[in-house]
Amino acid sequence: VAAEKGGYPHFMLKEIYEQPRAIRETFSSRISADNKRVVLNELSLTEEEIKDLRHIFIVACGTAYHAGVVGKYVIEDLARIPVTVDIASEFRYRNPIIHPGDLVIVISQSGETADTLAALRESKKAGARILAVTNVVGSSVAREADDVLYTWAGPEIAVASTKAYSTQLIAMFLLGIHFAQVRGTIDAAYAERLITGMREIPDQVQTILDDLEDLQSFLKKYAECQNTFFLGRGLDYAVAMEGCLKLKEISYMHAEAYAAGELKHGTLALIVDDVPVVALATQTDLYDKMVSNIKEVKARGAQVIGVTFKGNTELQKVVDHVVYIPETENVLAPVLTVIPLQLLAYHIAVARGCDVDKPRNLAKSVTVE
Ligand code: G6P
Repeated sequence: VAAEKGGYPHFMLKEIYEQPRAIRETFSSRISADNKRVVLNELSLTEEEIKDLRHIFIVACGTAYHAGVVGKYVIEDLARIPVTVDIASEFRYRNPIIHPGDLVIVISQSGETADTLAALRESKKAGARILAVTNVVGSSVAREADDVLYTWAGPEIAVASTKAYSTQLIAMFLLGIHFAQVRGTIDAAYAERLITGMREIPDQVQTILDDLEDLQSFLKKYAECQNTFFLGRGLDYAVAMEGCLKLKEISYMHAEAYAAGELKHGTLALIVDDVPVVALATQTDLYDKMVSNIKEVKARGAQVIGVTFKGNTELQKVVDHVVYIPETENVLAPVLTVIPLQLLAYHIAVARGCDVDKPRNLAKSVTVE
């Protein structure tokens, strides 16, 4: 087993470090050499069908659901198609309004999650087109879908998903850009910036991994805490949900993700001296609002770790510790922002003596309801 871990103490850490390669594999054959177009030759969905799309559903569980939340923001923003994102166990029982020709995107690392598979079958019965985003070739979800967009993360062993999530995000970016290009809702220059930005992500992820030695010593003091909050707006909120899930799964620390604009409607009552807060502030249009929210929690005694792009130096003045990530297009930020959150969860779990790769009560794939 030690050999399979490639020298890392846990599969999870190995898989975190495999992300630059996994991400590159997932996009490289799907963008043109001149960085001008996303090319998804594996899809049978025609340009006409993409132009006619009226509604997209994204359905998944766990971490894959969080990738779906990012997918909703990205597809709506770029391709201007309304997207409903659902947890599979809710979707399958809530009598969703699916019209023939609607696209249902199911996201599943394993391709075997019972609720996700059931949601796929329900949608098919209702006449939807099914596009599966999965990591396992020949999995049930892959076999039953009309189309498959594989993530090329390679086998993921640790229960807590890392490289599957980041490659699912790449799949969402590819679909968002592709649909936008076909529908003419994105200008050529912006599409090229996004595609070029995607090409830079593997090296940027590597930079974050190389830079985060510093985070480890800082994190020790957080390992004692019982409660923590993750705040963000827009895409940062979507990533906050995933950061929280990682911490809960492997360190058994209670964590709650909150849309920062909702703070005043409840969570602010829980912010007292020394409560740790992770505040994500990458989205340019929402940056000033996030800074105000951070000041609100600081004023109540929170210990804040901020995550933002290099260059946003004013954040340093309002938080206790800043993690800088390399600059990228706002839409692409989640795949970078999540890296420090994965490491945060990992190091806290290790400091708390938890079984990182096999957390209590959890399974890698939930194949029964
Ligand atoms: C379990 C795993 C998670 C995963 C979820 C969905 O809860 O522990 O890591 O995100 O199932 O799995 P899937 O294989 O459908 O992505």
